[in-house]
This record gives sequence, C-alpha cells and structure tokens, in this order.
Amino acid sequence: MHVNGETKIYAIIGDPVEHTISPFLHNSAFKATELNSIYVAFRVIPERLAQAVDGLRSLSVKGFNVTIPHKVTVSPLLDEIDPSARKIGAVNTVKNTNGRLMGYNTDGEGALMALEEANINLKGKTIILGAGGAARAIAFTLVKHVNEIVICNRTEAKALELASELRKHTDIPVTGKKLDFQLSSEELDDGDLIINTTSVGMHPDIDNSPINTDVISRNITVFDIVYTPFKTKLLKEAEARGAKTVPGINMLVYQAMKSFEIWTKKTVNVEVFFKAATNALERQ
Ligand code: ATR
Repeated sequence: MHVNGETKIYAIIGDPVEHTISPFLHNSAFKATELNSIYVAFRVIPERLAQAVDGLRSLSVKGFNVTIPHKVTVSPLLDEIDPSARKIGAVNTVKNTNGRLMGYNTDGEGALMALEEANINLKGKTIILGAGGAARAIAFTLVKHVNEIVICNRTEAKALELASELRKHTDIPVTGKKLDFQLSSEELDDGDLIINTTSVGMHPDIDNSPINTDVISRNITVFDIVYTPFKTKLLKEAEARGAKTVPGINMLVYQAMKSFEIWTKKTVNVEVFFKAATNALERQ
C-alpha cells in the first residue's frame, strides 16, 4: 500500500479497542478493491467522545465504526441517523460526507445475512438471549422475517422493555422473559432458532453457556454471535446434539461488508473478509 496525500482514512473508535480485528478486515478489502485508503483503530475514552467525533469530522476521516462503549452515546453527536439505526437506538457505522456525519447500524443486517447465507429457514419462532445493543439490532431486523420472537434476558425488565418496543412495529407475537439457564424443552418447543447475544461463553469465559443445552434438539438452529472462541461451548454442545449451528464470525464479516459498502459503494467478495477475519483470529 502506498500512503500519500490522497489516501482516504477510515477508523474504528472504542474503549478498549486494542484487540479489534476490524482493521484486518477493512484493510484487506481496500487492498482487494485497490482503493487508496487505510483503516486504523483509535482508543477513545467516553469523556473525549465528542471531541474525537469532531476531530474525525474535521480531519475528513471518510467513515468510522463505533464500538463498545460508544454505540448509543455517539448518536446525538451526528447530523443524521438512518431510520433503522434510530429504531435500534445504536450506531456502529458513520459516513462523513463533506463534514456531515450520518449514522447507520449494520449489526442486524450482518446477522440476517449470516443466517441467510447458512440457508436457515427464518419462518418460525426465534429465541433471542440478551437484550443489549446487539440483541436490539438483531431483533429489529429479524422481526420483519420471523413468525414469533421471545427475548430472554438476565435483567428481566430489559427483556420486557425490548419486547414491548418491538410489538409497536409488528403484528407477530413478541414476548420478553427472564433468561433462565434451565430453559425448558416446552419453552423450546416449536422454537426454531436460538440466538445468543450475551457475552456468556466469550473468551475468557469459555467454559460457560447461557443455557443448558440438554434441551436442544436436532431441529433447532443455534447462532452464537460470540466469535472468540470461534466455536463457543454453546455451539459445540448444540452441534453434538445434531443441531445446525452458525458461528459469530459470520455476523462479524457481514456487518463489516455492509459498513464497507456504505462508505465506498463497493461490494467485495465476502471471502476476502472471511479470510482476513480467520487469519486475524488465528494470530490472537
Ligand atoms: P452488546 O452491545 O454486545 O449487546 P450490551 O449492550 O452490554 O452489549 O449487552 C450485553 C448483554 O449480555 C445484556 O443482555 C446482558 O444482560 P443484562 O441486561 O442482564 O446485563 C447480557 N449478559 C452479560 N453478562 C451476562 C451473564 N453473565 N449472564 C447472562 N447475561 C449476561
């Protein structure tokens, strides 16, 4: 890559951000498209978010990703928010057009594409574990595709709140309840898809699973958005019980591909992102 005066800069802001693999994904895509652009990671502490966003705007950074803990608090600092990101209440992608910052959320779309790519039949009941930012993005996207949603969260009030918000946008049954490790087989009965959006099972918590997998049958699909480790305990056990599984790296890759499209209007073969993500995770 030749960095010169015309090189366009893209970034990710978060805290912590040291272990993000997004730079590997986007820089591989810039290479594949031969765009004179680079993507860098900036640690931004919450107290400096407003200054950092203004700095990115002033320095003509063309686009940036937003990650933990800024996905919600960045919204009021932007000039415009895409309607679906507004509904979700979180932004993970910002495009800078001549100093005007527009916010998007590609997490839900990334999850949907990961499921579609794995040929998962979405016409059924979906159980979402968690009610945080990722759960919101996924729920607001999937509500247009599935026939029923159950939100299970450790803090029950958040599950009930998200379910009630979702019901304003759909006629399908949506319920919220407390996340119970002993999710019973009746609760899973006619359940078709379980999506884990909690951090349970994420490195270093690799010996835990958000639910007891004894009740998982071969007719269920389990999608875990956690991608460190590549195969979480939940996915391993679901697979051993004959269930279909979708790993979190797929969502990571598709949300990155969508951000890249928003910024550059170019579609890169998803394999470029997959290869970069796999290599980066192997190196960690
Ligand atoms: P993200 O943006 O990744 O969704 P988040 O908004 O902080 O992150 O949400 C984290 C989710 O993981 C929440 O649903 C959280 O449950 P609470 O609302 O009860 O906090 C869930 N979570 C985190 N640790 C958990 C644990 N040990 N057991 C069950 N759920 C957990």
